[in-house]
Amino acid sequence: AETGYELWLRYQPIANAQYVNACKQLIRSLEIKGTSPTLRAARSELERGLNGMLRINLPLSHSGSILLGKPENIPAITPAIKEQLSKAGTEGFLIKTITIGGKNRILIAGNTDQALLYGVFHFLRLIQTEQPVRQLDILSVPRSPLRLLNHWDNPDRTIERGYAGFSLWQWNNLPAYIDQRVIDYARANASIGINGTVLTNVNANALILTPEFLQKVKALADVFRVYGIKTFLTARFSAPIEIGGLKTADPLDPAVREWWKKKADSIYQLIPDFGGFLVKANSEGQPGPQDYERTHADGANMLAEALAPHKGIVMWRAFVYSHTSDDRFKQAYEEFKPLDGKFSSNVLVQVKNGPIDFQPREPFSPLFGAMPATPLMMEFQLTQEYLGQSTHLVYQATLYKETLDADTYTNGKGSPVSSTLSGFAGVANIGNDLNWCGHPFAQSNWYALGRLSWDYTLSSETIATEWIKQTFTPQPAFVQPVLKMMMRSRELLVNYMTPLGLTHMMYNDHHYGPMPWGNTLNRPDWNPVYYHKADKAGIGFNRTGSGSNALRQYAAPVQQQFENIDNCPDDYLLWFHHASWDHKMQSGRTLWDELCYRYHTATDSVRAMQQQWKSLQRFVDAERFSHVQQMLAIQASEAAWWRDACLLYFQTFSGKPFPAGYEQPK
Ligand code: GCU
Repeated sequence: AETGYELWLRYQPIANAQYVNACKQLIRSLEIKGTSPTLRAARSELERGLNGMLRINLPLSHSGSILLGKPENIPAITPAIKEQLSKAGTEGFLIKTITIGGKNRILIAGNTDQALLYGVFHFLRLIQTEQPVRQLDILSVPRSPLRLLNHWDNPDRTIERGYAGFSLWQWNNLPAYIDQRVIDYARANASIGINGTVLTNVNANALILTPEFLQKVKALADVFRVYGIKTFLTARFSAPIEIGGLKTADPLDPAVREWWKKKADSIYQLIPDFGGFLVKANSEGQPGPQDYERTHADGANMLAEALAPHKGIVMWRAFVYSHTSDDRFKQAYEEFKPLDGKFSSNVLVQVKNGPIDFQPREPFSPLFGAMPATPLMMEFQLTQEYLGQSTHLVYQATLYKETLDADTYTNGKGSPVSSTLSGFAGVANIGNDLNWCGHPFAQSNWYALGRLSWDYTLSSETIATEWIKQTFTPQPAFVQPVLKMMMRSRELLVNYMTPLGLTHMMYNDHHYGPMPWGNTLNRPDWNPVYYHKADKAGIGFNRTGSGSNALRQYAAPVQQQFENIDNCPDDYLLWFHHASWDHKMQSGRTLWDELCYRYHTATDSVRAMQQQWKSLQRFVDAERFSHVQQMLAIQASEAAWWRDACLLYFQTFSGKPFPAGYEQPK
C-alpha cells in the first residue's frame, strides 16, 4: 500500500505510452565520468528512477545516451558549453542535448559532483512531470547559497512543535547504526537542493556538543556529505558552564573564547566540512550574551571567531521579545538594527518572516532590508505550529512567496524581501511518521521550501504542480483541481482562524484551536487579548503614530501602504489599526459584517474542498485518499469551531447581530 514514505520520489511507471516511448528512444545507457560516493548516489538514483518510471535498465556504455560528468572529464565538450558551465558555480547544473559524432546525447554536467547529483534529480523531475526531453538546454543555478532545514529536535527525540512523530536521529543507536531513513531523508533533500541541516532544536541543551554526541553527529554528517548536505548544530550559549565546567559564558572572557575555539576544533576534526552553529540567545529564557551585559554581536562574534579558521558560519536568530516592550512587533528591529555592521563576516542574522511568530498572515519583518551591512537568513516555518499543525491542509508556498515578493523599498522601489537575503531556513515538519510530515499534503511545504530556496522566482503554482504530479499523478483531471485546492488553502485558513490582520488567537501553549478570550497568562504578550485588543469601540492593534508606531520601522512607502485606515488593505487592517466595528472595509462591508463574511465563507470553502477531494478518489490510492479525507473532515469541523468561537466572542464587544443569511450560532 502507498504510505507516502516515498514522498515526491515515487518513480511510478508512467502511464502515458507515447511519452514513455519517446523517452525510451532517447535514453538507453549511461556514461558516467568519475567516481565518488556522490556520483554513485547519482547513478543509483538514475537507475532507480528510470527503472521505475520507464522500466529501463541503464547499462553503462562508453557512448551512453546520458553523459554525466564535469567539464574537465569530458574532452568532447565545446567552448560554448564550457562557457555555459562557467556560470554554473559549484552547485548549478546544465542539462543539454548535444551531438557527439553525429549521435544525440543528453549531457548532465556541472562543476562538482554535488552539482551533478542535482542535475540528475532535476532530469528525473522532468520525466516524472512528463516534460519533453528531446531538445534540452537547461542551466539551473541556485539563487541562494544557503538552503537549510532547521530541525527542532531534542536529544531525547521529542520534537518541539513537531506533529509527525519523533526525531529521525536515533541517538541511542548512533554512531554504529545508520537507519535507511537517514539516507532517504538525504535523497529527498538533495532532490530539491537543500544543502544544509541543523540537527538540533534552538532550545536544546548543550549535550549535543559533548564528545559522545559528536561521534553520533559525525556518523550522520558522513551520510549527508554524500548528498551535498552540510551538518550544523545549535549551540547553547551557556555550554561552557554546562558541559565545560567554567563559571561563566561571558563572550568577552578569554577562557570562554578559548573553550569555544577548542570545541570548534574538535568538531572539525570529526567533521571537516561542518557547517557551523545556529543560536537562539536571550529569547524565551535561553541564555545569551545579554546575561553578561554584552550584545548579540559580542556573542555571535565570539562563536564566529572559533569557527572562522574552519570556514564555519554562525546563524544568530533575531527572534527576541520581552514583556517590557509596549509592542512585541518592534523588539527585534530595536535590538538588531543598531548592531548592523557590528557582526563578523561569517555571521548571518536569521529573521523569521514576520515580526511576531509564524502566524497565518504577517506583514514582512521590518528587519529585511534594514541591515544592509549584515547578511540575513530568512526563517520560514514548515511545521504548522499556528496553522492547524498536521491536521489542516495548508500549502504554504503562497505564504512564503507573499513575504519574498513584498517590496521593502529599502533600496528604492523594487527591493523585494528576496533581494535582501543571503540564505533560507525552514523549520522542519519532519518526523518518523510513515509519511514523514503527518498530513500527506504537508510534504508539499518541505518540497516548496527547497525549490524556493533554490529559485525564489518560481511561482507557487509551478511548485505545487510539480509536487502534485510527482506525489500523486500527472493526470490533468487530478492536477488541476488539486492545484486549486492547494493554492487557496492558506487563504482559507487565514479566513477561518485570523482574518483581516487578526493574530495570535490560538490556544495558549499548544497553539491549536481558538482562544481569542485568552487573558490569564502572567506575560501579557502571550495572551491573545494583547494582539486583538477588542473592545466596544472596535478591534485591532494600533501600530500607527497614534499607537505603538511600529510602522515607522518600515521604509516610507511601506508605511504609506498601511498607515491610513481608509486605504489600508483589508488583509492587514487589524495588524495596524484599532478599527471601529462600523469601519467601512474596502469590500464595502462594515468591519463586523466582513468578519462574519470571512469566517463563514472560509468555513464553507473547507466543506467544498472536502467535496472536491471526494470526487478525486479514482486517482488516488486508498490509503492516502482516506488519510486526506479524514483530515479534511476534522478541518471542516474545526473551521466551524474557529468561526463560532471567534464570532461569538467578538460579538460580546460589537453587540451586533449576524448579517442576513448567517445564522446566529448557539
Ligand atoms: C515559537 C514557538 C517555540 C519556539 C520559538 C522559537 O515561540 O512556540 O516553540 O521555540 O518560536 O522560534 O524559538
